Amino acid sequence: MSGVASLPPLVTSWEIETLKGQLAEAARGRRLLLQGGDCAERFSECDSDTIASKLKILLQMSLVLVHGTRKRVIRVGRFAGQYAKPRSDDTETRDGKTLPAYRGDLINRAGFTESQRTPDPELLLRGYERAALTLNFIRGLIDGGFADLHHPEYWDLAFVRHSSRAAEYQRIVESIGESLRFMETLADARIGEINRVDFFTSHDALHLHYEEAQTRQVPRREGWYNLSTHFPWIGVRTADVGGAHVEYFRGIQNPIAIKIGPAMTPEHLVGLLDILHPDDEPGRLTLIHRFGTGRIAECLPRIIKAVQSTSKTVLWCCDPMHGNTKRAANGLKTRSFDDILSELHQAFDIHEQAGTILGGVHFELTGENVTECVGGARGLVEADLGRAYKSQVDPRLNYEQALEMAMLIAKKAQLTSDTGGARLH
Ligand code: PEP
Ligand code: CO
Repeated sequence: MSGVASLPPLVTSWEIETLKGQLAEAARGRRLLLQGGDCAERFSECDSDTIASKLKILLQMSLVLVHGTRKRVIRVGRFAGQYAKPRSDDTETRDGKTLPAYRGDLINRAGFTESQRTPDPELLLRGYERAALTLNFIRGLIDGGFADLHHPEYWDLAFVRHSSRAAEYQRIVESIGESLRFMETLADARIGEINRVDFFTSHDALHLHYEEAQTRQVPRREGWYNLSTHFPWIGVRTADVGGAHVEYFRGIQNPIAIKIGPAMTPEHLVGLLDILHPDDEPGRLTLIHRFGTGRIAECLPRIIKAVQSTSKTVLWCCDPMHGNTKRAANGLKTRSFDDILSELHQAFDIHEQAGTILGGVHFELTGENVTECVGGARGLVEADLGRAYKSQVDPRLNYEQALEMAMLIAKKAQLTSDTGGARLH
């Protein structure tokens, strides 16, 4: 039987280099990175509806962001490989029984029995296959015109029509449609490119055996590429300067990201930049900061100063999810829409004051109608959480909350660029 190392790559070095070029532009304020998807993808949710909904919400958010910010948006899904999870606790105890923690579908199973929690190497192959199936469907949808801007109604999801934000979204779609028709009248031609959007994949490259099995040299290019994803990242728990993950990332050509939490010191970060971003290659390094709404004002400025002291360019991206996780009274993990938005607002302002640019946003979200985060236009409260809580790990924005968030970010980014002046363009 073939192992992951002998199976074909999931992505190509051309795509990886294209993304790196686009991220370099985002670092200079000319594009915006939108990265989003599940905290933990599930093998059981590798189905047509779930994948298409995820694509739809990312497309819709990107449309709103393009309209509001007048910047091209780089769409990166946390999908086709987001199967391995770092956990804070090694074990989980229920009713007096203690078992190993669930670490994602790539490693063990979520059910609470000894055999389900025992790591199973066969799951690495199942993960590779699921990633390939997911990517195949996404590529097929996009090549087939699913993302055609002439037909944004294809991406509509029924339940949002009842949202209080529906009218605003429709107005954005109509205004984009009008601009498109205007351009086409001027050019006397259909703008063909517009039905071909780029979509890229990313995941936490946590399981090094899986990542290494897809790390290859390609003809006519220097170095090694991780061909399991375009844009792997290092999580907060695996960013030790002397650690295996940093050593692995040092050797690959992909654009990479590092998650930065409150515990990151300026010295640690400068050490990481020395190792992972030695040549200041454009587009190579994205820093995804995730401090929480209560700590960003204290933590972000010193991190920005540390990077400025190296004179290197990075793409700054805000993950407003992971610093804002709380336990609801019923024990479920949740996040509040207002905390998420507040961290983002602060991130825009702090970067502007420091002379840097917030060039990306990173969300845990789903295209489905789940109830995992509280707040948003529909005013979800803790008592609603039990109704449609599906995540095994972190709570995600649902479809409506995600779209609303995009509208609010577009407004904020517009304000920031209006006051920030020419520097942002
Ligand atoms: C995640 O992105 O799901 C995650 C675990 O993030 P972090 O490494 O920032 O905690
Ligand atoms: Co998460």
